Amino acid sequence: MKECRIIIMGFGAVGQGIARAISLKKAMIKQDYGVELKVVAAADSSSSAICQEGLDEMMLVHIKNSEGRLSAYRDCGTNMSGLDVLDAVEYDLLMEATPTNIETAEPALSLTLKAFEQGKDVVTSNKGHLALKFSEVTQAAEDNGVEFKYEASVGGAMPIINFTRDTLSSCGIESIVGILNGTTNYILSRMTSEGSSYDITLKESQELGIAETNPTQDVEGIDAACKTVILANSLLGIDATYDDVEVEGISNITSQAIELAKKDGYLIKLIAEVSPKNLKVAPRLVKMGSSYDVSGTLNMATIKTDLAGEITVMGLGAGSLETASAMLTDVISILKTKY
Ligand code: HSE
Repeated sequence: MKECRIIIMGFGAVGQGIARAISLKKAMIKQDYGVELKVVAAADSSSSAICQEGLDEMMLVHIKNSEGRLSAYRDCGTNMSGLDVLDAVEYDLLMEATPTNIETAEPALSLTLKAFEQGKDVVTSNKGHLALKFSEVTQAAEDNGVEFKYEASVGGAMPIINFTRDTLSSCGIESIVGILNGTTNYILSRMTSEGSSYDITLKESQELGIAETNPTQDVEGIDAACKTVILANSLLGIDATYDDVEVEGISNITSQAIELAKKDGYLIKLIAEVSPKNLKVAPRLVKMGSSYDVSGTLNMATIKTDLAGEITVMGLGAGSLETASAMLTDVISILKTKY
């Protein structure tokens, strides 16, 4: 039986979702693809659990929630984290789920480049390195002959990158317009439907584990802008970085503005636009009942193509298991081609 030895880097909401998803699906993967997934290390920001024979995924989640640190994992806990973990164990694939850093892209950037240099495949949910250095990182993967997949970086469980590349491969992509941030959509929906306050809904989204570690990234449009850059590069071939996006968030949207819009049959949504002429994230009025009228943590995107007209996708844009599902799909696609 072939084995795929995995390191999970980052053990917040997404990292824990990965462990749960692997635990739930490893038997199916073994049966359908003939590959045994084995988590050989998992690391949080200051500790890790490492075991070449494999760790129990649900025990990792339990330890993290009960003890706060993975180093509490019996017989396998260490105070190592980050790059050191990549040298401490033999592995085949890095599942990288550290918090997005839009200033330096670290630690994701160094972890990813080191894994590539070691000849390992990488699946990520991170947006920082892709938004700041898309060409550099994707080129490094190519130079090292490894797989690099990042479906989960945009739209959580909503299929968009692989869907557009694979299912729409006959089409040229002219633009993508949509809602790419679950937290702000949740906040705006709750303010609209229940008149809840901005502060309370933001706190709720943090409790749901959908907001970024630093929720300013959500409410100021930074997260959606990162996703705009990733789509621009990966699907429209636009060589852009984060600084090329015009960004405005939702922190100035008042309940009064939402009420006024509602009276006229409109909603306020944080809309991202990706086209050769425009890379932009801003609050916009959309018609109630239109395809933009999705609530809660849902994301949506309308993909304008040259041959197939417009195609709209929708799905849960954030969440632990939802985001992990996209990462596991990326892992399966690597298993299909390489194992
Ligand atoms: N904080 C992000 C969101 C998570 O709310 O959409 C998914 O990228």
